[in-house]
Amino acid sequence: MSETVLVIGGGGREHAIVRALAPDAEVYALASNRNPGITALATGIETAEETDTDAVVAYAREVGADAAVVGPESALAAGVADTLADAGVFTFGPTAEAARIETDKAYQREFMAENDIPGTPEFETFDDADAAADYVESVGEDVAVKPTGLTGGKGVRVTGEQVSHVEAADYVRGSDHDEWVIEERLVGEEFTVQAFVHDGEVRPTPAVQDHKRAYEGDEGPNTGGMGSYSDAGPALPFMTQAEYHDAVDVLEATVDALPEYTGVLYGQFMLTAAGPKVVEFNARFGDPEAMNTLPVMETPLLDVITAARDGDRLPEPRFENRATVCKYAVPAGYPTDPDSGAEIEVDESTVEAAAEAGDGDALLFYASVDAREDGLFTTTSRSFAVVGVADDIPTAEAIAADALDAAGDGLRVREDVGTEELVQSRVEHMASLRD
Ligand code: AMP
Ligand code: GLY
Repeated sequence: MSETVLVIGGGGREHAIVRALAPDAEVYALASNRNPGITALATGIETAEETDTDAVVAYAREVGADAAVVGPESALAAGVADTLADAGVFTFGPTAEAARIETDKAYQREFMAENDIPGTPEFETFDDADAAADYVESVGEDVAVKPTGLTGGKGVRVTGEQVSHVEAADYVRGSDHDEWVIEERLVGEEFTVQAFVHDGEVRPTPAVQDHKRAYEGDEGPNTGGMGSYSDAGPALPFMTQAEYHDAVDVLEATVDALPEYTGVLYGQFMLTAAGPKVVEFNARFGDPEAMNTLPVMETPLLDVITAARDGDRLPEPRFENRATVCKYAVPAGYPTDPDSGAEIEVDESTVEAAAEAGDGDALLFYASVDAREDGLFTTTSRSFAVVGVADDIPTAEAIAADALDAAGDGLRVREDVGTEELVQSRVEHMASLRD
């Protein structure tokens, strides 16, 4: 009997999820935008807000979903997993309460401290912006200032890196947020480890490094992520295998302390000279990281989801020993003043040609674009990604760079993601911190 799976969300991450499920299941999708990559693979799509729990449940019933996967954190925060479960649809994604590990950064840090999770930074929480700002001005060390709620990865400011203490304090006072986490500035190299989680079981996937800053050389404002790479194997070039396993230990300790959690637990780490520290947890696949991880996963994603649903042990996922490089094309002006509603062109044949010319594969993932009858249009978020898959990072990067020529006018990219020069600079940065 074929399984029917409903995927919530219409970005690059959800295109990757749908692509991973499509060979084994009948897939339906619900999103606010019309992602042409998802439309091409899904049996049906519904256009509705991902946070509209009634619409999600109605569509799940209409298509007879046997399981659902929730992509975006906004849907988890809105309780989509809870309402689907109430409607009898097994959902691979945490309840709104369990998703607080992502959606409430003050709760996240307090949870970590109470449960002695390894890699917890020093932090203070505030429920008053003036008190938080006064603290930022008086504290001697460099700090990261974070509104506790969801900000699409764009709410954090780090002193000594982006802003001075005075600027950070002004930012806190001038914002709409009351609740803040002010924490120790972590120095090192960031990386992500995502794990499939159900009933206390943790199944980690290879590490990925995302690039949050908007411009080449890690300049400019934070974004949702401009691109990412993974190596042929679980660790990244700047870390040891032992450090990768330390990060997995953090995820395991976290799941031990979380009473009930089903879905992907995403650990964002800073590899410091003293080992991995937790920048944050997310309660879902990363975007772009899902586009690195799922294409090289040999174990069918459907098997993980149905094992969780049926109360079986989660399979140990197997991965191809291949590297991946993902590069995003984003609207002009993204992230501060994105040119939404602009018509764009994506030349799919360029991606195919890049695969043929290179020694590996080239994949195209559409993201937050809207395919209308009169053309393809940008939204306020990232437009599409290309992923090169090959035996090593430089080969995967070359394929992704070629494929990125698919981007027509009005789109911007970060050319340096995954280049030998940038990866080498990460290795040297870690080496200098370890000295
Ligand atoms: P978050 O929304 O918590 O993922 O933070 C967004 C980005 O801010 C992270 O990816 C880091 O680059 C940076 N950041 C967050 N917390 C810290 C910290 N404690 N020290 C240094 N950088 C941080
Ligand atoms: N890549 C960052 C995120 O998914 O939150």
